[in-house]
Amino acid sequence: MFKYNEVHKGDEVSYIEALCDRVERSLDEGLLPVDVFSDEKVFRAEMERIFTRTWVFVAHDSEIPNSGDYVLRKIGLDQVIVTRDPKGGVNVLLNHCRHRGTEVCHQDRGNASHFKCPYHGWIYKNNGDFVGAPDMRQAYGGRLDAKEWGLLRAPKVDSIHGFIFACLDENAPSLRDYLGGAAWMLDCIFNLHPDGMEVLGPPERFIVRADWKSGAENFCGDAYHVGTAHYSATLSGLIPGDVRETGPNARGYKFDGGHSFIGHALHDWFGPPFAFWGYPPEVQEQFDLSRFDAQQIEMMKKVPPTIGTIFPNFSFLRFPQPARSGEFPMAFTNIRMWQPSAPGVMELWVWEFDWKCAPQRHKDDSYLAGQFGFGAGGIFEQDDTAVWEGIARAATSPWNRRLGTQLHYGQLRVEPDPDWKGPGEYYPSIYGEYCQEAFWRRWLDDMRKGGAGQ
Ligand code: FES
Ligand code: FE
Repeated sequence: MFKYNEVHKGDEVSYIEALCDRVERSLDEGLLPVDVFSDEKVFRAEMERIFTRTWVFVAHDSEIPNSGDYVLRKIGLDQVIVTRDPKGGVNVLLNHCRHRGTEVCHQDRGNASHFKCPYHGWIYKNNGDFVGAPDMRQAYGGRLDAKEWGLLRAPKVDSIHGFIFACLDENAPSLRDYLGGAAWMLDCIFNLHPDGMEVLGPPERFIVRADWKSGAENFCGDAYHVGTAHYSATLSGLIPGDVRETGPNARGYKFDGGHSFIGHALHDWFGPPFAFWGYPPEVQEQFDLSRFDAQQIEMMKKVPPTIGTIFPNFSFLRFPQPARSGEFPMAFTNIRMWQPSAPGVMELWVWEFDWKCAPQRHKDDSYLAGQFGFGAGGIFEQDDTAVWEGIARAATSPWNRRLGTQLHYGQLRVEPDPDWKGPGEYYPSIYGEYCQEAFWRRWLDDMRKGGAGQ
């Protein structure tokens, strides 16, 4: 049996290599070592091997619609300024001055043509170019190379349906290639109307004392927890129906690259009004289905994707939920980032979205429905984050560490549907934990190889 202390004698690199070997052996047996969570060495390796190399979501177009708009975001531990420059381009800039390194921007959002460093006053355009500094002639003989001394810029920035992603590895594949078959799914989720979706407000951010991977893997494919962790929502009458039906009505969509989605058979479960996530007729009538293939339309009518994760830490949620007392449940769209802060600690960022074309009342109700369940005060969010914090504590348990405890990831195998005509694989049952396994195998791959660009 693995002994934690033996491995800790080695240096950090060999520790990670040994851990990866253990994780691989464990996954082959339907297990996972508990110490992949909430561990300092693992966390440092993740920051270097995953978050500086994969595509990470940073902002939505509707958050920075005008020239000069910017928001502060994170790629792993790096704070970045996401700006809209005068040419309409999006720049993802490291928020550290090139002179002595302090942050040049201290506001979460705003509009600025330039950023002036608060320390000595170096000035940068909102595309990152250096433009000047105090006492240029006396200090620098009048010139500094603007390109050379600009803010560091993410070498790859791209978007899909307004969702902007950045990658710090210039050798990484394109965003579309990175997403692979999952892009086909994102088309269904975000491209039903040519005007797309928009944010309904700034993101909520709150600290959770849990590992970022606990949220990411849960949203990959864990419908098994709903009947237990969220049963209080049924007992208290806060939602109609019985949440214990969520697992049996859940299906799985698994794509290459560790990207996975849960789907729910809403049409069969709730009845005919629940085609297309249960959007009301005034919204559904505006959807343009001409851009989708037959499999996509069939899926959105009967088993739409309801929850999902794009590796590493971008997740999606769209589900019908009550907005106003006594009214028909309302489909909301919630986007979240499991933002790593420290070993076993994440900042959870949560946005509510709706279709730009939707009536204002729908937007209001959709926002309420999303916040009712998810977000800092959401009833489901409380249930989830409480149990995920327990996983982080298990990972730091000296008893678990001494014994090399492994967690159970080995539900009975489920076979994919052979008649599925879309990309990836469709599974008629979510039991089997194949989506979570795919997430961990992608994690393992990146931890071994150093990420998408290698
Ligand atoms: Fe920014 Fe000196 S640290 S100007
Ligand atoms: Fe949950």
